[in-house]
Amino acid sequence: MTKKICLVTGCAGFIGSHLTQRLIDLGHFVVGVDNLFSGYVHNMEGFLDHPDFKFHEISITEEDLLESLKEAYPDLDVIFQLAAIVSVPYSVEHPKLTMDVNFEAARKMFEASITLGISHFVFAGSAAEYGNEERLPVREKYATDEVKHFSPYGASKYKFSSFLEKSGSGCSLRFFNIFGPRQDPTSQYSGVISRFIDFGLDGKNMVIFGDGTQSRDFLYVSDVVDSYLIAAGLDPLGRGPLTGIYNVGTGNGISILELANTVSALTAAPLEFVFKPERVGDIKHSRADVSKISAAGFSPAVSFDDGLKKTIEWSRSCK
Ligand SMILES: NC(=O)c1ccc[n+]([C@@H]2O[C@H](COP(=O)([O-])OP(=O)(O)OC[C@H]3O[C@@H](n4cnc5c(N)ncnc54)[C@H](O)[C@@H]3O)[C@@H](O)[C@H]2O)c1
Repeated sequence: MTKKICLVTGCAGFIGSHLTQRLIDLGHFVVGVDNLFSGYVHNMEGFLDHPDFKFHEISITEEDLLESLKEAYPDLDVIFQLAAIVSVPYSVEHPKLTMDVNFEAARKMFEASITLGISHFVFAGSAAEYGNEERLPVREKYATDEVKHFSPYGASKYKFSSFLEKSGSGCSLRFFNIFGPRQDPTSQYSGVISRFIDFGLDGKNMVIFGDGTQSRDFLYVSDVVDSYLIAAGLDPLGRGPLTGIYNVGTGNGISILELANTVSALTAAPLEFVFKPERVGDIKHSRADVSKISAAGFSPAVSFDDGLKKTIEWSRSCK
């Protein structure tokens, strides 16, 4: 495959660092942008000094950012737009900043990408765009202007995905619950899997909000990276590229109780769960309809158990 120059915004984050590593491993050059708002330099330690990586510590809200990067890297041809305010509670406290970063900055970058003739633009959408959708599995067309979003986070992601769809170019991948190494367990807003693993390895009781029957569609991070490569036409197997909006998940729901039991077994933690009242705004079930992305040739390669084992192994190595 021809060597591409790719821009990854959010390269110091959980998903962005995995995507960057894979692109470099495949022989591409990555221009990484991150302002370290919720990402870490240590997430990039596998590639920070690689000759095919150049890091720019800068915000995506910087005026004419893409124009300057294109001047510095004239062959830049693929954009992965991951940088975002990702914390739902933070977005509730900072709605304007969330809209400025998650929608406005992304919109300016997308418009500049069209003007500059960049071939592929892939956006990180989210299941939060569906609000409290009760029809399961959730289909792409269920996110409409009528949906009541719980947070500026969900609203900003929806606003950009629908803007992109109307433009007729670019791709938004709507991710459900992603897990894997480098997901930050110390953040109070971090994913349930990283928190459960942390509880398990520290021998602490696992806190479950509600009765634990609520379920989520969990996808391992390397499968997320596969979907990115497909969307941008960089898949070694030749799948893609994709235009429009695609759910990315497994299509299976796993209950929080089932997750807690599996993590307990795999970390050899005692089966002690502390039940706390359901959190306001938490949705009961979330599961993707994956027929659209499946038709494009995507299917998860890592089973839930194998993904958990890899994540636990990584968490252990960090202790
Ligand atoms: N993790 C999930 O389960 C999940 C699910 C759905 C969608 N997503 C989306 O995937 C993307 C990556 O999420 P993640 O889980 O890796 O989160 P993350 O917080 O680890 O990564 C986000 C990165 O964006 C950077 N960033 C934030 N604001 C920035 C700005 N103004 N300029 C430059 N960089 C900035 C952060 O420093 C961080 O490194 C996000 O867009 C998120 O909304 C994640």
